[in-house]
Amino acid sequence: MIKLVVFDLDGVITETSEQHFIAWKTLADSKNIVIDREFNESLKGVSRYDSIVKILKYGNVLDDYSKEEVKKLMKIKNDNYVKLISKFNEDNINGGVEDLFIYFKKNNIKIAIGSASRNAPFLIKNMKLDVYIDYIVNPLNLDGKPSPDIFLDAANHFGISPTECIGIEDAISGIKAINTAGMISIGIGDKKILKDADYVYDSIGEIDYKVLEEMVK
Ligand code: BG6
Ligand code: MG
Repeated sequence: MIKLVVFDLDGVITETSEQHFIAWKTLADSKNIVIDREFNESLKGVSRYDSIVKILKYGNVLDDYSKEEVKKLMKIKNDNYVKLISKFNEDNINGGVEDLFIYFKKNNIKIAIGSASRNAPFLIKNMKLDVYIDYIVNPLNLDGKPSPDIFLDAANHFGISPTECIGIEDAISGIKAINTAGMISIGIGDKKILKDADYVYDSIGEIDYKVLEEMVK
């Protein structure tokens, strides 16, 4: 029986994955590193630091940057990203998200946010979703996805076994994290990309309630 659902934020609850991509691409372009949407799949779900390391490695220039310089690049990207999401509000919630939250609440299932993003609390508040959320994982001192730690932190917070949890993710790294945590994984996106998920739907609004019904029993 399911007792907790851990939602990723970016690309699941709202389409911020586009703003993350724009901000990373702007930064990469400024360093003459060309990244495309295919490469971006490997950045989804990955922490800010790990993402910049991936980009610099991809451009074969990682060794040219000191830790301090990497930190500066992280700040440039985040300042740009924060500008891009500054006006996010209820209109940016993906279709079907609130219905799902209401469904889980009705069934006494806890709702947590398991995002790698340090901007998650800001977005949750601005989209006025905090009323539904029982816990937001703080990713700061946890190993990033694909490590299972973010998902396990949510389960541990409530003392719930991972086998009684669902994780919902749009990223390859996130599905790996959920599977390693021992939770049921629901992928949102392309079936070919998220092939390791237990279930995959094109969008969160298309999650099959009949399948959920079996899990919450
Ligand atoms: C994840 C996003 O949710 O959070 C990544 O999918 C992002 O693209 C990561 O890099 C970290 O986010 P932030 O907002 O702390 O830089
Ligand atoms: Mg995501």
